[in-house]
Amino acid sequence: MQLTWLGHACVLLTGSKKVLIDPFIEGGSVIGTQPDIVAVTHGHDDHLGETLELSKKTIAITEIAKYLVLKGIPAEGMNIGGTIFVDGVAFTMTPAIHSTWIEEGGIPITGGTAAGFVIQMDGAKIYHAGDTALFSDMKLIGNLYHPDVALLPIGGRYTMGPAEAMIAANFIGAKTVIPIHYNTWDKIRADPMQFKTAIEKTTDIRVSVLRPGESIIIEDGKVT
Ligand code: NI
Ligand code: MN
Repeated sequence: MQLTWLGHACVLLTGSKKVLIDPFIEGGSVIGTQPDIVAVTHGHDDHLGETLELSKKTIAITEIAKYLVLKGIPAEGMNIGGTIFVDGVAFTMTPAIHSTWIEEGGIPITGGTAAGFVIQMDGAKIYHAGDTALFSDMKLIGNLYHPDVALLPIGGRYTMGPAEAMIAANFIGAKTVIPIHYNTWDKIRADPMQFKTAIEKTTDIRVSVLRPGESIIIEDGKVT
């Protein structure tokens, strides 16, 4: 399976299916990726992004899924702790400590609660934490699902910063960590190389700092 970071929290998984997580990039569009399935961690604009325009099968928490169905999108609702299988891809919804709403023309609509996902496809297991604070139950996510790769926000202010994400990486135990949700705007400035050096000095975990559009390959649990 190929994992491509498109920028911010937006990640494309390409294997037997194309799965696009949090379809938003700053100053651009991800419509051209033509995913089979879209997964949305929560309702904030920088995650829900182009979900309506993409108009693909979309996995989201029940409240967002109901909103999307009303808009004509074939959404599948689920909730935290549950797993659903869509076209051979397993989506497990994990907790996230964060707020959420959907904003439509300046009017807030409830979006349930914020979440993350463990996604399994072609034998590879990817944990996308969504927007979240550090929480100790990330250990459970590690123990239960053994993700090969963890995508962790490091931008601070709205989510974990690098110091908290370092502890998160240790809790989760994925061999590869990819920092996301940083440097999109001034308010979420973080140094991914400092994060990488700090983790790699003290643990066996490898940090892949990707440029937007850059990919890694996950095969038999190994990252290349
Ligand atoms: Ni958010
Ligand atoms: Mn966000």
